[in-house]
Amino acid sequence: MASPASSKSELLDSFKILSRMDLSLRESLNDLQIIDSLDSTNSAVQRLPIDEQHGAVIIAEQQNAGRGRRGKNWHSPHGQNLYLSIGWRFEQKLTELGCLPLVVALAAASALQEAGLKGHKVKWPNDILLNDRKLVGCLVEMHGDPQGPCNSVLGIGINVHMPASDEVASMIDQPWTNLESHLPGCSRNSLAAHLLDALLTQLPLFAANGFEPFKQMWDQYDGLHGKFVDVTSGTEVMYGVAAGIDEQGALLLDIGGQVRHLHSAEVSLKLRSNRLIV
Ligand code: BTN
Repeated sequence: MASPASSKSELLDSFKILSRMDLSLRESLNDLQIIDSLDSTNSAVQRLPIDEQHGAVIIAEQQNAGRGRRGKNWHSPHGQNLYLSIGWRFEQKLTELGCLPLVVALAAASALQEAGLKGHKVKWPNDILLNDRKLVGCLVEMHGDPQGPCNSVLGIGINVHMPASDEVASMIDQPWTNLESHLPGCSRNSLAAHLLDALLTQLPLFAANGFEPFKQMWDQYDGLHGKFVDVTSGTEVMYGVAAGIDEQGALLLDIGGQVRHLHSAEVSLKLRSNRLIV
């Protein structure tokens, strides 16, 4: 059952979002729907006819079956956070889109910066952390011909107002934070507008030029670089120093001078820092 939005949290409003977007970028949107309650915004975009998905955005007040990476749930209470998905079609081969999850994270990082946040970092491949606590998760789902074109659905969840007292959120299996604690009074409608502006700028740039224009930005936001990390890949557990990414977006892990290239589908990370595990 939907719990009411907190009194300080304004409801999502497509007019407010569109009016706070850059005018020229707004024109590249195909559709913007705000839905009160649904299963998952990613699933809702995937249910649209395939030729209507490119540039279509669905935002929800609540998700009843919000999906995270690696089959996890994404806790999505009503009126508290931002749950946004956009469909995007790429002409490239699937193998040329390995950096797409990183580009989505960078779009979210830019949007947060535009909203006034400082000090947030990207944890490979596409979490955003603030003070080592998770603020944003991204779910990139692709379908289509491996030789291209590929249709992607890019889902972003940002913890905005969700309080630590939320019964289910208090059981989330990793440290998390919300934007409100760092930017009091932040508006979900403005944040959605910043996020759409960033996505509509960065996705065409990635489609045209690949990851090269983003490399410097990645290095600036990379929260793992030079840190000791535990990496689980299938049944293999490794320990090494994170050393950036390769041109396919794989994580470089330096294990005693030998560098492994690790791809997103195979790995999970645990930061080693006293009790911290994210
Ligand atoms: C993760 O960190 O595990 C990814 C979380 C992604 C959550 C977002 S919320 C909007 C979109 N719809 C979903 O069902 N999932 C993504």
